[in-house]
Amino acid sequence: MLKDPSKKYRPFRPVNLPDRQWPGRVLTRAPIWCSVDLRDGNQALAVPMNVSQKLELFQTLVKIGFKEIEVGFPSASNTEFTFNRRLIEERRAPDDVWLQVLVQAREDLIERTVESLVGARKAVIHLYNSTSPAQRRVVFGMSKEQISQVAVRGATWIRERLPRLKGTEVMLQYSPESFSATEVEFAREVSEAVMDVWQPTPQRKMILNLPDTVEVAMPNVYADQIEWICRNIRNRDSLIVSLHTHNDRCTGVAATELGLLAGAERVEGTLFGNGERTGNLDIVTLALNLYQHGIDPKLDFANLNSIIEIYERCTGMTVPPRQPYAGELVFTAFSGSHQDAIRKGLNEWKENGRECWDVPYLTIDPADIGREYREVIRVNSQSGKGGVAYLLESEFGIELPKDLQREFGPIANDEVDRLGREVSGAELKQMFWREYIERASPWQLQSFRTESRNGVVRCRAKLLHDGQVMELAGEGNGPLAALVHGFGRVGVPRFEIAAYSEHALSSGEEAAAIAYIQVRHADGKTRWGAGVDTNIELASVRAVLSALNRS
Ligand code: KIV
Ligand code: ZN
Repeated sequence: MLKDPSKKYRPFRPVNLPDRQWPGRVLTRAPIWCSVDLRDGNQALAVPMNVSQKLELFQTLVKIGFKEIEVGFPSASNTEFTFNRRLIEERRAPDDVWLQVLVQAREDLIERTVESLVGARKAVIHLYNSTSPAQRRVVFGMSKEQISQVAVRGATWIRERLPRLKGTEVMLQYSPESFSATEVEFAREVSEAVMDVWQPTPQRKMILNLPDTVEVAMPNVYADQIEWICRNIRNRDSLIVSLHTHNDRCTGVAATELGLLAGAERVEGTLFGNGERTGNLDIVTLALNLYQHGIDPKLDFANLNSIIEIYERCTGMTVPPRQPYAGELVFTAFSGSHQDAIRKGLNEWKENGRECWDVPYLTIDPADIGREYREVIRVNSQSGKGGVAYLLESEFGIELPKDLQREFGPIANDEVDRLGREVSGAELKQMFWREYIERASPWQLQSFRTESRNGVVRCRAKLLHDGQVMELAGEGNGPLAALVHGFGRVGVPRFEIAAYSEHALSSGEEAAAIAYIQVRHADGKTRWGAGVDTNIELASVRAVLSALNRS
């Protein structure tokens, strides 16, 4: 890298708009959405989608709720043309869905594009030519005036062919490609030249799409450019101003949001931000950002996992694990304090029925987009007791008492540390079983019987102590008190039961109940034990032995 980048790169020249209005506005409704997945996605894929993959993705987009779908560049190849024809001839688009097609300002391409649309119910013809200084100089070698003429000629060739699309409701769209790198005054000039040809009216508007073809500045600059056009273009009320952002500086979503504040009403983008280079606007993120603020996005991502599955299969792309809303890890907390806060937040949400979602670390309820709470917490070496307890409870119905959570948490963490990876709920259960339930040394239960008379419980227990059979008998006001008494009689150092709880295990478990017991020794030290049995009395006896075995 250069020590002094200013020798090679220059700052972006901002738009002069000191009285900009957009910073004071808020978004209150969803824009008109247009998916360009079937175009940009296809252009930018190592292996382009075949017709059946495009059909499947098209149907998915319709199901999500897109009413405008750019289906391709029909004049670019036979596959693209055939795909468009199939959609039209097989009546695959619902009556309220516009099929959008992209075309450059060349007569032969426009001819073929119009041909591809015959019989369509609703069609958007999207014409574009590039307008920025670099494109004018390097690619076309044309003056501003010549670039304007290219646009006007293209617009005229389209207008002349419209009678061929009788029976089709046609909407016209123009994009000054590389708009964000174009002088706003010139972008306005070209756009108005196209408007002169198409003569849009408030009743029959045209779409003016203003692309951030390559992100060259901060999103506030794009917003200024959009507001400048909205305020300075002629016949604004005959236009639907549309945004088409890319993500070169990683601000495609931000630029679109600010562009909407600046006055645009339509947005082009793709699922998960697929597209050329760093991709297009990620429509899923923008829609769910609106949703997070209580705005109906008018797109349905209730089953996001299945959309991801279709998208990945059709495009061969993958959704990264940290992709907003969609990534595998975005509703997952590894840090103990986050886990604890999420747990408390989810409990408050479930139990107290708060009016509005306000759970720490979770921007929206994962369940709203088909995710499960169970995904929220995973356990690795940085997790706290909260995560461990959550997984045991949510996956196996094992409700560890708080104090036992504090004892088992570090034990589990040490083991996870040793493994050096994330562990599953099943692995945590195994750890718990090894540490508490399966301990059989020095004490092991052979049999335990009780009888009760006049409020006094007498017990007889047959135990193995380091493999030697040992019988003990004791009495007390309950089976556990009798057992503790019996231990005392055979010379086991004095201890008492400090805490006790039990609960049934969820169905399907090998045993019906689990008991947790904390014993306190004469020196004040405490130890937890746990026991599982179909008989709750035996489960608690096993829990006492488990605590002694761990002492
Ligand atoms: O990024 C872009 O400028 C485009 C145009 C064709 C709209 O994709
Ligand atoms: Zn683009």
